[in-house]
Amino acid sequence: MFGVAAWLSGDLAGDDERAASLGFTLHSWLGIAASAAVGLRLVWGLIGPRNARFSSWLPVTRERLRLVLEDVGTLLRFRLPERPAHQGLAGVVQSFGLIVFAWAAATGSVLFFLLEPGVRPGPSLDFVKELHKVGETLIPAFLAIHVGATIAHALAGDAGWRRMLFLSSK
Ligand code: HEM
Repeated sequence: MFGVAAWLSGDLAGDDERAASLGFTLHSWLGIAASAAVGLRLVWGLIGPRNARFSSWLPVTRERLRLVLEDVGTLLRFRLPERPAHQGLAGVVQSFGLIVFAWAAATGSVLFFLLEPGVRPGPSLDFVKELHKVGETLIPAFLAIHVGATIAHALAGDAGWRRMLFLSSK
């Protein structure tokens, strides 16, 4: 949620070179909250319960990649892949989301501590800003795939989205 709020407010942060603007302040605080949430998720992926750990689902082994290809085949036949959480193609989409948000969080945190509103940044900080802005295209791309897939599954009768709102999915 903080991640989406940070993404939506990103557009307001651009005029920091002129003066401390409300948009910049809003985006920096939503962004740093989102960065903390991303950080916790990364720690959870390292030391959390077994099924949340990256080592048990990141699609990097031959067997897991085989499931991904199988899911692509299923989609090409206009059917939805059905798998436990994080497995197959869903794991690729989730890894992509994590990487994109971790990137925005890491570069955004550097900006949070070094960028001064109203002061023109030097060339290296300007470069970090450019790196940060890749979120501008990659975050909506991730959200389109993620939300699109959730809607497709919901239409097919799989109410997994209810879990996000802490409702039973049965
Ligand atoms: C996970 C956390 C964050 C996300 C997802 C995020 C996302 C974004 C996105 C998508 C943009 C581009 C908006 C556009 O140009 O249309 C942006 C711009 C920006 N963000 Fe963040 N951000 C995060 C954290 C932060 C933090 C902590 C700061 C600290 C100051 C920050 C500072 C900026 C600035 C200054 C810009 C404007 C860059 C420019 O236009 O030159 N962001 N952010």
